[in-house]
Amino acid sequence: MKYRAFKDVSVAEVGLGTWQLGSADWGNVDEAEAIKILQSYVGAGGNFIDTADVYGMGVSETVIGKFLKSTDKEIFVATKLGRRGDGGNGWPQNFTYDAMKRQVEDSLQHLGVSQLFLEQLHCIPTDEMRSGKVFDNLRKLQQEGLIRYFGASVETSEEALMCLEQDGLASLQIIFNLFRQHVADEVFAKAKEEGVALIVRVPLASGLLSGKFKEDTTFDANDHRNFNANGDAFNAGETFSGIEFKEGVRLAAQIKAILPDERMAQWAIRWILDHPEVTTVIPGASKISQVHGNVDASDMQPLSLEIHQQLRKLYDEQIHNKIRGHF
Ligand SMILES: NC(=O)c1ccc[n+]([C@@H]2O[C@H](COP(=O)([O-])OP(=O)(O)OC[C@H]3O[C@@H](n4cnc5c(N)ncnc54)[C@H](OP(=O)(O)O)[C@@H]3O)[C@@H](O)[C@H]2O)c1
Repeated sequence: MKYRAFKDVSVAEVGLGTWQLGSADWGNVDEAEAIKILQSYVGAGGNFIDTADVYGMGVSETVIGKFLKSTDKEIFVATKLGRRGDGGNGWPQNFTYDAMKRQVEDSLQHLGVSQLFLEQLHCIPTDEMRSGKVFDNLRKLQQEGLIRYFGASVETSEEALMCLEQDGLASLQIIFNLFRQHVADEVFAKAKEEGVALIVRVPLASGLLSGKFKEDTTFDANDHRNFNANGDAFNAGETFSGIEFKEGVRLAAQIKAILPDERMAQWAIRWILDHPEVTTVIPGASKISQVHGNVDASDMQPLSLEIHQQLRKLYDEQIHNKIRGHF
């Protein structure tokens, strides 16, 4: 595992996404399996874990908290706030100072720590970001010592650039993958200039970029790849990166034909790591074997310039205009 600078610490360039460990939105991953996934990741040299208060409404954070008690390794946990009551009474009441403090305190309790390493805004409404008040609240929570760093997880390049104007922003979390290549042109230079860490989510387009799905693959009723395949529950971009499923299976096959060998998930992650502006990529895993595969990308050779150019050509000509959702 290789590490990259995140402010004053070194984080694993392959992190671990833990939306899957909430036993909601991805089918069921039981607690024993979740703990083994966390153990495998840290055993492979990993030290950066992304979660959110709403993953299983506290289940993901709580299982991470249990795991933290069992290890003496230094682990950097990034969580998120802002989506409780999403679409209902929670918005905009989630963004007062008092409400944000309550959300931070709940995450502290779930994780069993006295300070959050990183608190991120969880794809909150653009107008809340634009008003800037949420960032004042985060700076206050930081001064009070409840959070060490704050960042923002965003949907669009416009939101990313808006957040990059905020003093003290430590990180930006964005969707960037072989189905979402334009983000590099729009956001990376500015993030680098501002010294803001880039956390890359949905690196495998919810599994499509592992090449394992067929056009007739189906998903459980409680899996967002079933109920949000077309953006019916939340932004379409968070599921399959906004690509229609069968189209995504066909495009993934075209990408696979360009890659050096069968290790498609690893090459998809390697492609992200080949961008030096990226700080860490956070693939999610529902099985231990996936953790090992994904971590391996760190030790693989970079893809050749020729392959990068072919992948970009395919994106420009056949993928970019097929992305749906808010991006
Ligand atoms: N708004 C936000 O801030 C936001 C939104 C989305 C995600 N996130 C964060 O980003 C993380 C990553 O995104 P994501 O989990 O949505 O998508 P992802 O990482 O693109 O896809 C994860 C899925 O890909 C499959 N997979 C993973 N490794 C594999 C491998 N080596 N071989 C074959 N298949 C593999 C698994 O599918 P199966 O389970 O079917 O095996 C896994 O559940 C999340 O866990 C979460 O922490 C944040």
